[in-house]
Amino acid sequence: MKKHNFNSGPSILPQEVLQQASQAILDFNGIGLSILEIGHRTNWFVDVIEEAKSLVKELMQLNDDYEVLFLHGGATTQFMQVPMNLLDDNETAAYCDNGIWGSKAFKEASLFGNAVLAASSADKNHTYINKDFAIPSNAKYLHLTTNNTVEGTQWHSFPSTNIPLVADMSSDIFSKEINFKQFSLIYAGAQKNMGAAGVNLVVIRKDVLGKVKRKISAIMDYQKHIDAGSLLNTPPVFAIYVALLTLRWIKKEGGLKEMERRSIERANLLYSTIDALPIFTSYINKGDRSNMNAVFFMKDEKLQDKFLEECKINGMIGVKGYRTVGGIRVSMYNALPLESVQAFCDLSIAFAQKNG
Ligand SMILES: Cc1ncc(COP(=O)(O)O)c(C=O)c1O
Repeated sequence: MKKHNFNSGPSILPQEVLQQASQAILDFNGIGLSILEIGHRTNWFVDVIEEAKSLVKELMQLNDDYEVLFLHGGATTQFMQVPMNLLDDNETAAYCDNGIWGSKAFKEASLFGNAVLAASSADKNHTYINKDFAIPSNAKYLHLTTNNTVEGTQWHSFPSTNIPLVADMSSDIFSKEINFKQFSLIYAGAQKNMGAAGVNLVVIRKDVLGKVKRKISAIMDYQKHIDAGSLLNTPPVFAIYVALLTLRWIKKEGGLKEMERRSIERANLLYSTIDALPIFTSYINKGDRSNMNAVFFMKDEKLQDKFLEECKINGMIGVKGYRTVGGIRVSMYNALPLESVQAFCDLSIAFAQKNG
């Protein structure tokens, strides 16, 4: 049976990326060795990482004011590494808390300096993006999470500030055209829109570095990674290779313009279907709905298990809501074909007819 992969991350990857990655495990570029067997300082791998960095800059339309790093540790490491590099103990940073990940980033920052909440949507259970800011005048930077994977909300335009903007883009990176130059630091775990788990993309405007007085351990120091060309220690070679294949796929398919067109098409289909079906309800503010993760609920909670069972029988994977939120979450990342969303909508319509 055909599977429809709505996993929230790690999640669906393009078939051709999986095929190319499998081939590279057996024989990388015809060299007679696996990608898993080559040294990270060989020309073979240096070519991989350099191409990946240059594709990131090309897709984001960034110049040499920015550096691209591929680091270990998942986006969670960045919750710590960002303030460690940008914020001294006696300094202030402003954070937006529009969901679980933003709130975790905020808590980590308070270990390194004075983290303050510029805006929070906790008053309404994170069902909207709070754009009503109060940024302290002495804040070093403003941190936001561009897409709230768990709650199903997304920033559709960004606040203009006169301080550096730092963004966790883990769950909507490369899904739309934006002006990336408005950000001073961008980070994202690769495992949703740009590859396999095990690597973080970090893009830094170089002029934000070198301003803190604290001593930073080498492995946590962005500048040391930049100086070493993202090869300070053994990087996650295979995950970087899968990221390269995914970046090539994004470019070949038409770049961010096309990724955006597809994501809007998928989201419009899904939201118009669930809005029209009386079995579902959604608490998310419509203007803040995520094009990546749609979160909604069964009006009659008793039908939830039955609906999820129906999804399972029909090969729909990963549609159960996050453990603390419940309900249903349909994740629609770059590689998800429209047919999968259509299949989910058809199933929902048929279920509503039988159970409505
Ligand atoms: C927006 C966002 N930030 C951070 C994380 C944490 O990422 P990781 O598990 O790679 O540390 C996630 C994971 O889903 C996420 O969606």
